[in-house]
Amino acid sequence: MNSSADTDSLHGTAAIVTGAAQGIGRVTALSLASHGARVTILDINGDGAHAVADEIRDTGGDAHAVVGDVAKEPDVVRTVEETLARFGRLDVLVNNAVAYNREVEGSDLNVVSTPNEVWDRTMAVNLHGAVLGCRHAIPAMLTTGGGTIVNVGSTAGFSGDTNHVAYAASMAAKYSLTRSVATSHGKLGIRCNAVATGLVLSPTARGNLDPVKLGIYRDNLLVPDFAEPEDIASVIVFLASDAGRYVTGQTIIVDGGFQAHQPWHAQAHIVHPEAVL
Ligand SMILES: NC(=O)c1ccc[n+]([C@@H]2O[C@H](COP(=O)([O-])OP(=O)(O)OC[C@H]3O[C@@H](n4cnc5c(N)ncnc54)[C@H](O)[C@@H]3O)[C@@H](O)[C@H]2O)c1
Repeated sequence: MNSSADTDSLHGTAAIVTGAAQGIGRVTALSLASHGARVTILDINGDGAHAVADEIRDTGGDAHAVVGDVAKEPDVVRTVEETLARFGRLDVLVNNAVAYNREVEGSDLNVVSTPNEVWDRTMAVNLHGAVLGCRHAIPAMLTTGGGTIVNVGSTAGFSGDTNHVAYAASMAAKYSLTRSVATSHGKLGIRCNAVATGLVLSPTARGNLDPVKLGIYRDNLLVPDFAEPEDIASVIVFLASDAGRYVTGQTIIVDGGFQAHQPWHAQAHIVHPEAVL
């Protein structure tokens, strides 16, 4: 088996990446295009979406920008229709858009204090946006024999925290959605997986970084440094391509080992000094 040949399977395919005007989505769109996929970028940030489409075209690829909201069904329908009109097919959907700007970040606290509007908007974008993407992409994919869906999520979906109740619940539900789609449509040719990312230095994450939390986070990584969007995009490309053809219904954790160790690991020099390398 040749893994580069397997990612070559993306050549001539058509993909939709949501929330691709910046961050992980942008790098994923560029990376899919570099493997020969034609890419539709759906984002509420029109300038950013067009800039990424231009970036892909400038490097010899083909891209289309759609300005829209993943939480609005007509926008999602239009995105699929325009992709089919322009590229003639749909093979890959990456549900990456996230409601995680400073406004939501500051108001998504605990179950008692989080306003209903923040809960509803978080669920509408992060979860229902992915549901709408799957609902309208799958019938289009089936006309050419199937396709692959990658739902981008967060390790926040696995762990309790004192804040971000809505964000965490939306991510956990995205993993359940992933298994349901893989199960309901797998035999028809649809693979569906999720990527659960830890902290990634995207523009939004950089803007929200708390230095104290960042230090604790670094101490709990099992790799030397923080992730860049490229570290997530490479796993998405693997899952979207034939390189991942036997992987479905899975949530792949890409967090530098943050979730892989005992909670006292960061203080190992105190609790197990004899074992510290
Ligand atoms: N960056 C991190 O540290 C981190 C950590 C865990 C998980 N993730 C996950 O990775 C994914 C991308 O994160 P990121 O940090 O690159 O995000 P980002 O905030 O940098 O980019 C998100 C993009 O989504 C777009 N968007 C927001 N709402 C939208 C909507 N309703 N419709 C269409 N587009 C919309 C934004 O305009 C933006 O371009 C998300 O699913 C997020 O949950 C990121």
